[in-house]
Amino acid sequence: MSEGSTRSSPADPATPRRCFSLASRVALVTGSSTGLGRATAKCLGLAGASVAINYAHSKGRAEEALSDLRAAGIRAEIFPADVTSETDVDSLFTAIEKSLGPVDIVVANATPAQPQKIIEEYDWDFYQQMLDFFVKSPYHLARRALPGMKQRCYGRLINITSEVFHLGVSPFSAYVAAKGGQTGWSRSMAHELAPHGITVNMISPGWIPVERHENDPQSDKDNYLASIPAARWGKPEEVGWAVTYLASDEASFVTGQTIAVNGGKTVW
Ligand SMILES: NC(=O)c1ccc[n+]([C@@H]2O[C@H](COP(=O)([O-])OP(=O)(O)OC[C@H]3O[C@@H](n4cnc5c(N)ncnc54)[C@H](OP(=O)(O)O)[C@@H]3O)[C@@H](O)[C@H]2O)c1
Repeated sequence: MSEGSTRSSPADPATPRRCFSLASRVALVTGSSTGLGRATAKCLGLAGASVAINYAHSKGRAEEALSDLRAAGIRAEIFPADVTSETDVDSLFTAIEKSLGPVDIVVANATPAQPQKIIEEYDWDFYQQMLDFFVKSPYHLARRALPGMKQRCYGRLINITSEVFHLGVSPFSAYVAAKGGQTGWSRSMAHELAPHGITVNMISPGWIPVERHENDPQSDKDNYLASIPAARWGKPEEVGWAVTYLASDEASFVTGQTIAVNGGKTVW
């Protein structure tokens, strides 16, 4: 650095910016009433996309997310649907198409609670629930989105996976298995859809505390924080901006990839 020059401090990831333009795009973020999905919906909207906010249970949280996005000047609407149900997914797309237009960007983000247990304490129904969220739901979302995407020779399928798959975290076998299935499916779909101008990528967050983690033991939080090379917590917006990059035209030659958003915890 030359004398007198100043080193700029890292930008606040929550600060709105417009690196990529998603103007005229329509984005569906499943499970975007709270947590990482809500932040992702806002980042996509700040980049110019019209945003479909989705939830299944808590209308109040979805309305809070909608107010937040609209206050930021984003075109957004709420679309309730259980994204593990084929009929709900079909109606969800029909409603979005009618209200916002054809869906260009699908972010499969929704999740239920994820209790950690040893294998003897899980039953198969819980494994099935995890597979329904992380394999069945992306499958139905893609099946419904693809005819239009293929016609327009453009589409972005972005699946939110987790570092737990890469780390083999235990005891967490049901969630880890489902995230592994989601990863394999995404890689195969990337190959299949590349000739159609449709990319399929994954974001693999580390633990980024959101509302549902408020009551987690402080010792767990301290131990995890101590393991992050960046020595700080990630912010939901940092997932959202990575998604926004993958959704952009600038990422059109990137497919079948996983971007870890975890402060360097899975560097290899
Ligand atoms: N936060 C982390 O530390 C972290 C780390 C790694 C990976 N991830 C991944 O990131 C994604 C988001 O996690 P999060 O922590 O942000 O979760 P979250 O805050 O618990 O949000 C989950 C969202 O999914 C919705 N949802 C639940 N069931 C649904 C259904 N059947 N259909 C549609 N929406 C449904 C919830 O709304 P309703 O309850 O109102 O339906 C809510 O909007 C997940 O795929 C998760 O595996 C998170």
